[in-house]
Amino acid sequence: METKILKLLKEHSDTFLSGEDLSRKLKVSRTAIWKHIQNLKELGYEIIAQPHLGYRLTSIPDSLLPDEITYKLKAKRLASKVISYKSTDSTNNVAMLLARQGSEEGLLVISEEQTGGRGRLGRHWTSPKNSNIYMSLVLRPRIQPAEAGRITLMSAVSIAHTINRFVGLPAKIKWPNDIYLDRDKVCGILTEMSAELDRINFIVLGIGINVNADKHKLPHQAASLKMKSGRRINRVEFLKEVLHDLDTYYDKIVRGDFSRKIDDWRNYSLTLGKREDLKVGRRKIEGQAMDVDENGALIVRDDFGFNHHVLSGDVGVRQ
Ligand code: BTN
Repeated sequence: METKILKLLKEHSDTFLSGEDLSRKLKVSRTAIWKHIQNLKELGYEIIAQPHLGYRLTSIPDSLLPDEITYKLKAKRLASKVISYKSTDSTNNVAMLLARQGSEEGLLVISEEQTGGRGRLGRHWTSPKNSNIYMSLVLRPRIQPAEAGRITLMSAVSIAHTINRFVGLPAKIKWPNDIYLDRDKVCGILTEMSAELDRINFIVLGIGINVNADKHKLPHQAASLKMKSGRRINRVEFLKEVLHDLDTYYDKIVRGDFSRKIDDWRNYSLTLGKREDLKVGRRKIEGQAMDVDENGALIVRDDFGFNHHVLSGDVGVRQ
């Protein structure tokens, strides 16, 4: 009911909407409307109530609420359902659990804070509250498990693209999926998968973006988009762009159109042409990063001229 009231208030935000009109349109009592308005106020919406005139929405909270995220969202497959938390241990943990229980493709789990945010290779992801984006999407692509690297790669390309376009900053991708502005990391992606030999059951795509956090809340060599741009970013609007771009890229991948994504990756890559020092299991590969292949693996040419195709899951980064 709150969703419906909000929609009407947004459609009439330049005027007052009477309790009577709302109750008639939504077929509930005026007392019920009043109660729902109180609930919305508790969520941070500013709504003025004027006797004889009714209600008017004057401000929307800077919170990642499902109603705000889905309002006029342009996405076909993603965020078909949104679950949001004020705090949780890790949105990936929640999404993995729900995916195992059969949740649908596109489910978005989002939180204002994570108490146990996880990074790649067992690292911790610093997740201060009410300032950044911590989100996990459940995907069920009909591709081979060996092709899952495509999802990781396309997500990084897509987010780099959104940052470039929406924030106007030259984001770059450090292979496999870290997003940098200059020397500082602004976004990390953790892809987790449940698969059988020949089919993917589900993928949880976990994305952490430092949006508005201040320096003292973030680790060394990390920065937020606010720190880099000098302005506060509207998180909901930015997230909607992220979801829209991800949706467009993902749609192409599930329809088998991956090669052009590799071109996009090349444009955003910090890694290409650089010397990489990778640890693959117990093996160490040193060489020049040449390209990525059709599965999203990095092609590294060693000093003997041999090409190695390294999937992100194989790599340990030497500190
Ligand atoms: C990395 O760079 O190591 C990956 C970081 C991924 C962090 C995100 S935040 C949302 C989701 N939940 C988690 O616990 N991790 C991912």
